[in-house]
Amino acid sequence: MRKLVFLTLAAVMALAASQAVAADKVALPKGYEKWEKSKEKVVNDKKSLFYGIHYIYVDKKTMKTYKTGGKYPEGSQFVVVFYNIKDEGGKPVKGKKNMIVLMKKDKKQQETGGWLFAGFTPEGKPSGVDPVKNCYECHLKDTQANDLVISKFADFK
Ligand code: HEC
Repeated sequence: MRKLVFLTLAAVMALAASQAVAADKVALPKGYEKWEKSKEKVVNDKKSLFYGIHYIYVDKKTMKTYKTGGKYPEGSQFVVVFYNIKDEGGKPVKGKKNMIVLMKKDKKQQETGGWLFAGFTPEGKPSGVDPVKNCYECHLKDTQANDLVISKFADFK
């Protein structure tokens, strides 16, 4: 009996270790909170995936192409942080953080148009979304001229 318990625990630990390795591969970039940040963007449509309040963070190197449009240089990065909406007397107010997403230009990511797409929990842990089905397919729509980037600098501030 004791042996069985030990084995089970070992299996659980092995699983946790393998997940930790996978988690190491993608991480949120350090200090993204200090990048240039968009105005508060409110999506009131409850049917929308983006229902809630979000902010887009754009790193310095990325900003140049964001302004002009076109192909982004390797390493370009965008982070979006999402919050729930609290309705306070008809005015939408930022609630709890609910999700963080990352796009990073990475030529190895051929399956997703040369961008790494990743989703994270509010604590910054990888949330294990499928980058093709859950991200890329939607970002493919109407973004050919903007290298899969959907938001526009004109709406940034
Ligand atoms: C249903 C469509 C849809 C799906 C699915 C989707 N996105 Fe987006 N994404 C958008 C829209 C629309 C914007 C622009 C938001 C704005 O203008 O404020 C956006 C913006 C972004 C941005 C900021 C850069 C840009 O393109 O404007 C990042 C980063 C991003 N998404 C990552 C992801 C990741 C990672 C996933 C998968 C976990 C994902 N997205 C899934 C529609 C989608």
